[in-house]
Amino acid sequence: MEDLYGNLVTAQNPKTIEGINRFTESLIGFGTDFGVIFEASDEDPSCALAASLAGLLGLFMETPDRLEIAERYFQRALKNAPVASTREQILIEALWASNCGDLEKAIKCHKRLAVEFPRDLLSVKIGQTLCFNLGDDEGMLWLADQVIGEHQDTAYAHGMRAFGLEQMSYLEEAEEAARHATSLKRREPWAHHAAAHVMLTQGRLDDGISWMMEHSDEWEGCNSFMYTHNWWHLALFYLEGEDFQSALKLYDERVWTRDKTYSEDQINAISLLWRLEIAGVDVGNRWQELAEFVSARTLINDQPFLDMQYAFALARGEKHEELEHLLQGMDAMQVRAPKLTRTVWRDVAYPAAQAFVAFANANYNRVVDLLGPARAHLQKVGGSHAQRDLFEQIWITSLLRAGQTQEAIGLLQARVNFRKTVPLDKSWLAAAQSTV
Ligand SMILES: [Fe+2]
Repeated sequence: MEDLYGNLVTAQNPKTIEGINRFTESLIGFGTDFGVIFEASDEDPSCALAASLAGLLGLFMETPDRLEIAERYFQRALKNAPVASTREQILIEALWASNCGDLEKAIKCHKRLAVEFPRDLLSVKIGQTLCFNLGDDEGMLWLADQVIGEHQDTAYAHGMRAFGLEQMSYLEEAEEAARHATSLKRREPWAHHAAAHVMLTQGRLDDGISWMMEHSDEWEGCNSFMYTHNWWHLALFYLEGEDFQSALKLYDERVWTRDKTYSEDQINAISLLWRLEIAGVDVGNRWQELAEFVSARTLINDQPFLDMQYAFALARGEKHEELEHLLQGMDAMQVRAPKLTRTVWRDVAYPAAQAFVAFANANYNRVVDLLGPARAHLQKVGGSHAQRDLFEQIWITSLLRAGQTQEAIGLLQARVNFRKTVPLDKSWLAAAQSTV
């Protein structure tokens, strides 16, 4: 049997294919129909591919039993893998390697699939996500480039390529690909998102607001990450245009409204609230409310980019016990993390998290000391350039508050030179210069 992109699937039951297709569409199109893969695997346990995707879903879950669920399905996948096709075996190997923390091997498998089985768009999406979390922009674009020829009519493939192009700073090509994807399928939230990145990077704030508002009706049925992240992007345009009230309104009405227990919703909220505060906006008791949800998390220390920002939210919301627990986990990751990410935890994530706690405690000299050496390597914690710009704003703010005004002015001048149309940066530079 074949899946929705024409890949052969070793399965006994047409309902298994339906489950795989619905899962695939949800992952690539940022939908919500994921749980169906558990049912598909349970009803057709000999389908190794369905079992491995169910294992992957287990890893995505943020419940305390996530690893147990993942393990159960992965074991089922491994047991049935010998009768699966070559493509399925490589994909199962990739997902299993991810589960075991061998990200190098996982990415290698996804790259191999992109070359040998370019119809497998799901593998490209998963591979791109792994690359994204490692700050590997080149890998992200490479994967999309390998398969685009086989998916000329598939909007999602152009959306995936658009984001890779944007992160590699091929901005015009990125916008073109994003617009093309949207013309093929209006409900392509990742393409809307890629174009928003381009417009933000180019300081086209009005274009960004129009583009995102025009397509925002399509995000309603998206999963909470995509919904809140695209509204977060829209809020950034208002924020950089110094329309703080509109940005704060989006925080209250869109960004922080969906699934307050979910990591990505929390990260979008933390990132927006922090930027607003850096810009001088009084955010009231929002940190306390947000920290309640962050402190209720099962902290699993699987992504440095997330943990660093949780650390600030917990410190800012005065959740001392949970903060201590998080930092202990991060500390342990300096030794315990898989080889590929161990140095990132040691040299970047852990000192940066400590720096962010110092920021929450208004100890700006300590921020400068801790964040300085980590700053050059921040890309390795993953996230996009736009997301990591928060860390640069923290750095500049800390320099100013630690009295290192000239260095801050140099950085602010560079920001203004790069994007001459951004009122927030211009005001910031003028304010810094007025103190000299
Ligand atoms: Fe983004």
